[in-house]
Amino acid sequence: MFYPLIRKAIFALQPETAHNLAISALHFANNPLINPVLKTLLACPNGTAKKVMGLNFKNPIGLAAGVDKDGEAIDGFAAMGFGFIEVGTVTPLAQDGNAKPRQFRLVEAEGIINRNGFNNKGIDNLIENVKNAKYDGILGINIGKNKITPIEKGKDDYIFCLNKAYNYADYITVNISSPNTPDLRQLQYGEALDDLLQSIKARQAILAEQYNKYVPIAVKIAPDLSEEELVQLADTLRRNKMDGVIATNTTISRENVAGLANAHEIGGLSGKPLQHKSTEIIRCLHQELKGEIPIIGSGGIDGVQNAQEKMDAGAQLLQVYSGLIYHGPALVKNLVAAIK
Ligand SMILES: Cc1cc2nc3c(=O)[nH]c(=O)nc-3n(C[C@H](O)[C@H](O)[C@H](O)COP(=O)(O)O)c2cc1C
Repeated sequence: MFYPLIRKAIFALQPETAHNLAISALHFANNPLINPVLKTLLACPNGTAKKVMGLNFKNPIGLAAGVDKDGEAIDGFAAMGFGFIEVGTVTPLAQDGNAKPRQFRLVEAEGIINRNGFNNKGIDNLIENVKNAKYDGILGINIGKNKITPIEKGKDDYIFCLNKAYNYADYITVNISSPNTPDLRQLQYGEALDDLLQSIKARQAILAEQYNKYVPIAVKIAPDLSEEELVQLADTLRRNKMDGVIATNTTISRENVAGLANAHEIGGLSGKPLQHKSTEIIRCLHQELKGEIPIIGSGGIDGVQNAQEKMDAGAQLLQVYSGLIYHGPALVKNLVAAIK
C-alpha cells in the first residue's frame, strides 16, 4: 500500500545507493526483536509447500541471486515470506566489481541494466553471514569466478567455492551466465561446459560422503542462447545429472527497449523487458529435459499472471529481483498466495 510512496523516494536515489540502503535497513531485521515485527507488518501467507531437488520448500517463490550478494540481510528477506533465498554471486576472493555507476533503471519499461561484475566480499565473509543468520528455510549459495582468474582456470574457482559453501547451503548454483565477467558465458558451451560440470559433480560426490549429506547443484543460464545451443546445453546438463537449472539470468539484447533512456548502457538487462524471452527459454528447456531436471524460472516476474505463465511453461520454482524493486514486498505476498 505504501510502496508507491517509498518507491518515489527510492527512485530519487542512484540505483546502487538505494540498493545499499535497502540492504542496510534489512540487515537490522536480523535482530530477533525487529524480525517478528517486520513479519507481522508484511503479513505474507505461508503458501503452497513443494518438494523440488529433494528439498522441502515452504512455497515456490524465491529471492534471486544478486540482491543479497554477501548474505547481509538474509533474515530481513526471509521476513518478506520467500520460500527460498539465494545469496551471492560470491567468488573465492573479495573483488570491487566494475567502475560505478554500474546500475541503471529503465523506468518506462520497468527494466534494470547492471554491469556490477560480481562485486562481493568473498566466500569466507559470506559463510560467516550465513552462519549468523537465524533463517531456517531453504538457502541457495550462488558461486562464480574472480575476474582475475583466467577463464581456463575458472573451474578452480567454482571448486574452491563449492568446497567452502557445501556444508552451509541447501543447494548451490553455478553461475556461468553473467554477462559482466569477461568470457564467463563461454562456459555454457561444448567441452568447456562438460568439463566444468564433470569436475563439479565429482567434487559433489566427495563432499556428499565427507559431510554425509547430498547438496543439490543447479546451473544458471543466460537467455541469449539459440535454440540449438539450448538443446546442446540441456543434453550436457542431463548427461552430467545436474540437479536443477535456473533460467534465466539477464539479457544482453536490447530489442524491447531500443531508444529508451539508459538502454545504451552496457550490461545485463532484467525486469519486464526480459519476461517473455525467459519464459520461452523455460518452455524450450522443459521440452528438452522432460521433467528430468527441475527448472527454476527467473526473468521479469512482476505479477501472478506472468509468474503462472512460467510455471505453465515448465518451471517448478520461481525467483524475483527486478519486480521487487518496481513493486515492493507486496509482489512476494501476491505470488506466494497464488502460485502452487
Ligand atoms: C543489479 C542486479 C545484480 C544481479 N546480480 C546477480 C548475481 O550476482 N548473480 C546472479 O546469478 N544473478 C544476478 N542477477 C540476475 C538476477 O538474479 C535475475 O536472474 C535476473 O535479474 C532476472 O530476474 P528479474 O527480471 O526478476 O530481475 C542480478 C540482477 C540485477 C538486476
